[in-house]
Amino acid sequence: MPQRRVRRAIFPAAGLGTRFLPITKAQPKEMLPLVDKPTIQYGVEEAIAAGIEQVIMVTGGGKRAIVDHFDRSLDLEFYLRERDRADLLQILAEVDALSDRVDLNYVQQRQPLGLGHAVWTARRLVEGEACAVLLADDVILGTVPVLKQLIDAHVETGATVLAVRRVAPDEVSRYGIVATGVRNGRLHEVLDTVEKPPLKEAPSDLAIFGRYVLTPEVLTALDSTDPGAGREIQLTDAIKSTIAGGRVVAVEFEGEYYDTGTIAGYLKSNLALALQRDDLREEMLAVIRELVSSAEVRA
Ligand code: UTP
Repeated sequence: MPQRRVRRAIFPAAGLGTRFLPITKAQPKEMLPLVDKPTIQYGVEEAIAAGIEQVIMVTGGGKRAIVDHFDRSLDLEFYLRERDRADLLQILAEVDALSDRVDLNYVQQRQPLGLGHAVWTARRLVEGEACAVLLADDVILGTVPVLKQLIDAHVETGATVLAVRRVAPDEVSRYGIVATGVRNGRLHEVLDTVEKPPLKEAPSDLAIFGRYVLTPEVLTALDSTDPGAGREIQLTDAIKSTIAGGRVVAVEFEGEYYDTGTIAGYLKSNLALALQRDDLREEMLAVIRELVSSAEVRA
């Protein structure tokens, strides 16, 4: 069996984040905080925990804050050292340590032509190997990093691997949905993918979430994928075109999913994560109780 490894992870982060306007006018969506950490940092931590050696960020205009976040801030370090703030210096050191543990590279997607195009932009750095793709706005936390679950499935099968999760009937039309064949535990053979189907046309309730392991064939397919929905080059179209000739599997992942791609999901995720923090739980519970009871009085 050929030795299968996944050493590189692409983070497409060049989108315009229009669903979050006006905050995303001058601020990358990927830098929006979940409590006190930008969503993209959760993804980078997950990639490192899954054994990734090189992160390729696809950025575009207005995304400077991402580069700065993972760089050292000598001014800030100097300021904090002068004031003996070892506690805050420690927080900076933890972010800094990420750049020591993984090679960070940046490529520019000069026009936001879609997720597929963003991945294609990174093709030369991937050098013909299987690679991971993580979407920063799907934050998934758990004992075993989701990306590790996907990489294990790739090592076992050699296939392109999608992360899937069962969704409620009223959510099906928001996602890419997979049609599946043979199943082995949490691993499903993928027969087809359908983008945002109406419920009655959905082949299953297994929705695709923002983690992938792509074989080189998918990158090759992106070379010739025409723009699809929204005139964007869709990653799922390229994956779909490789199903017949290759192999695509889906892993029903284990982990707690925090949706930060919609405003309601983002606010809920912040509350949920704050409630898990020892330093915030009591205060947040009191705030929530107070807000709920005053909303009930008004209703
Ligand atoms: P999204 O569709 O969630 O992000 O893409 P978006 O396009 O920025 O958001 P809306 O729809 O306008 O609100 C998922 C990920 O793919 C990246 C985004 O930055 C996001 O992290 N992306 C999307 C690119 O890098 N390039 C693109 O052309 C499109």
